[in-house]
Amino acid sequence: MTGKAPDTPIAMEGPVLLFGGPYSNLNATQALLREARRLGIPPGRTICTGDVVAYCGRPAETVGAIRAAGIHVVMGNCEESLGWESPDCGCGFAEGTACERMAVEWYAYANRAISPDDRAWMRGLPRRIDIALGGRRLAVVHGSVGRINRFVFASSPEELKRAEIDLAGTDGVVGGHCGLPFTQTPGGRLWHNPGAIGLPANDGTPRAWFSLLTPLRGGLRVEHRALDYDHAGEARAMRRANLAGGYADALESGLWPSCGVLPPGEAARRSKPLTPETVRWTPSAGRRPPSSIPVRGISAARLTAGSPGHPVKGHKPPATNKLIRF
Ligand SMILES: [Fe+2]
Repeated sequence: MTGKAPDTPIAMEGPVLLFGGPYSNLNATQALLREARRLGIPPGRTICTGDVVAYCGRPAETVGAIRAAGIHVVMGNCEESLGWESPDCGCGFAEGTACERMAVEWYAYANRAISPDDRAWMRGLPRRIDIALGGRRLAVVHGSVGRINRFVFASSPEELKRAEIDLAGTDGVVGGHCGLPFTQTPGGRLWHNPGAIGLPANDGTPRAWFSLLTPLRGGLRVEHRALDYDHAGEARAMRRANLAGGYADALESGLWPSCGVLPPGEAARRSKPLTPETVRWTPSAGRRPPSSIPVRGISAARLTAGSPGHPVKGHKPPATNKLIRF
């Protein structure tokens, strides 16, 4: 497992801000921290799902900003690899893919930039943080509960998500790693990925993504929010660092340089702009699938009816449908 279940979850009374993948993107990280302050979310209710360091050009500065903020951080595979000076990033990219080739460049760059003190901080990060919010317990991990670098997408099988939540022993799981925001309710429980701030969501816009979880009577409100920041300045910083490959362009185009890690469903949604969305999750007692979950603002990258994870506008899942996802 990526992390032993903590005996006691961290109790959180108010809205919780979640984000993933700062990816050495200092401008996005600073913008996210400013947004947290603007929203009145204290560091104790701000959680990063890991991969503080990756593709972009300012690894040491980004680690410094995150550490200074005093927020909760879950260990990502990049922290695991850099912390123990592994020969590669441990992202789980398939051999011979463009992602793997590009990772050689940015990982070597980051490996040179990180200080021994930052490595020690990375080694000390928890692999899992449990929070108690709105009467529910959620496990926050990087990839999945069982594996730090498992890619869990919206189109990944429901059975996988159910099994992972079972493994966590919680009401839901918050994960990162795949870099794309989504929320689903497998079996009436919660699988939530707030997305990443360090790279765009491959939707053709330069925006980053984070989320707010707000306790409600009997459940949670899950809000996916977009983050605008100085992406052009960050791309310039990458080019100054001679990281002029596809990721610098991606910050401006909003499109990933390679879709090699994406399942067909997510690859087909490349360049379709996402819009902020809100889900009210009201799990029923005994973890039975909910008969209905109001969903408003469904407008993100819709495909045809039945496309994994992407219901068509106006589509109302039947009472027996255990998958309400977008
Ligand atoms: Fe990762």
